[in-house]
Amino acid sequence: MGAGCMALNEPDGLDWPPPPAVRAALALIDARERSNGVYDREVREHGVRVARTSASLASAVGWGRAACAWAGLAGRFHDVGKLDVPLDLLVKPGRLNASEMASVSDHAGLGACAITEALRGLECPGIPVLVDAAGMHHERMDGRGYGRVEGARIPPVARLVAVADVLDALTSDRAYRAGMSFHEAMDVMASPPFGRLAFDEDALRALEAMAPSLAVGHRDLAQAMHR
Ligand SMILES: [Fe+2]
Repeated sequence: MGAGCMALNEPDGLDWPPPPAVRAALALIDARERSNGVYDREVREHGVRVARTSASLASAVGWGRAACAWAGLAGRFHDVGKLDVPLDLLVKPGRLNASEMASVSDHAGLGACAITEALRGLECPGIPVLVDAAGMHHERMDGRGYGRVEGARIPPVARLVAVADVLDALTSDRAYRAGMSFHEAMDVMASPPFGRLAFDEDALRALEAMAPSLAVGHRDLAQAMHR
């Protein structure tokens, strides 16, 4: 575990399963993603894979059952804001220009708003976990993320989802490159423009410890889901 204020503590007071009204609201978001084939592939399937890795990371850093389940749910819906980003930008091969990049970057804030709005009025301690992951999964410990927060101010769930998200992005096929192997992705995450200081050290260590299972299954799963 990391020292002091950087500790990757599990969020307090979580129960599982979520109340029916929360599940119903999340099912509506899921249906919105499924209703569009490209978003289904680019957002929902990525979310499903990030969910699995986020829950496993939470378990690996010692979170309890309910917190692991909420970490999975947070991973599942972390990119929901992409539903409000123009599709041509999401699937554009190659580099984006500055204004296109700014539009794509908006998805973090848009996602936090979308989840807040979808769950407005519902009482559930897990809701802030989902909002934090959506809003801050692109923040980096060294401050080189989207720049809203850094270091210990990044909620622990967002630090876990950040690691799971980057891993999946690197190991998934893109229009302009094939997905990397798990070990190639780990090398990239430890090098600029990322670098080990970008990520929570406990989360990264947990990911490395999971290498045997992810190295076998992750790339195959990513390829199988890209129809
Ligand atoms: Fe994202």
